[in-house]
Amino acid sequence: MSTRQLLIAGNWKMNGGPYEAAELLDGLKSLKKNFTDDIDVLVCPPFVSLSMAVKYLHSSDIQVGAQNLYYEDNGAFTGEISASMLAESGCNYVLVGHSERREYFGETDDMINKKIKKAMAERIVPIICVGEKLETRKNDGHFKFVSDQIRAAYNGLDSVQALDTVIAYEPVWAIGTGVTATPEQAQEMHAFIRQELEALFGNDTAGAVRILYGGSMKPENAEELLTQEDVDGGLIGGASLSAKSFAELIVIAENLS
Ligand code: 13P
Repeated sequence: MSTRQLLIAGNWKMNGGPYEAAELLDGLKSLKKNFTDDIDVLVCPPFVSLSMAVKYLHSSDIQVGAQNLYYEDNGAFTGEISASMLAESGCNYVLVGHSERREYFGETDDMINKKIKKAMAERIVPIICVGEKLETRKNDGHFKFVSDQIRAAYNGLDSVQALDTVIAYEPVWAIGTGVTATPEQAQEMHAFIRQELEALFGNDTAGAVRILYGGSMKPENAEELLTQEDVDGGLIGGASLSAKSFAELIVIAENLS
């Protein structure tokens, strides 16, 4: 069981405009009125719903994060959103380098590194997403692949800065497929990622950074994943779009804390 505070984060992906988001948050608030201080809860709606979610959750213990950002401050970058805009909107976290962004929007390790630095300059905690495809795992290349992603993401950061980051291990083959990594597979990779952090930043930082698991996490499998030593929470897609299942996930994490 992890000694780090669990973080349960919902990545809504491209779901939930302002009205739908309000409905989902209403549902969540009615199902889950009180929270313990022992876990952190986060929702990451689409950009257009962020301000509404921040206002809506103002007096609750649920924090709001974005799903992406751009690494320039402002200017002629049509369609992009900067870190300072996210900070102004009330975001505390931002997902960076989600596999869907890497795959469909051509995000490179270099862009992801720049985004991480920009988020941190605005005191927004980046949730750095890493994870291999099935083919890579089948060829036994998953550790090297994730190691390369981690090293590129943290390039230029020191051990104090790294404390203000979160990692999400999301094996691509488990995202939206209903196939979850086994608790053993998750623990094995999380322990490996922590070793990598230790090599880069030393023991103290490696021991403090939270590593979330993502990929078909739901109430039915959450406990066995969250009780792994190096699993410090979940980044949840599909199951975060139902107030009931997201509330259940929060309760499971609370009961483990
Ligand atoms: P699912 O929980 O739908 O598999 O999505 C995981 C994910 O990509 C969260 O970022």
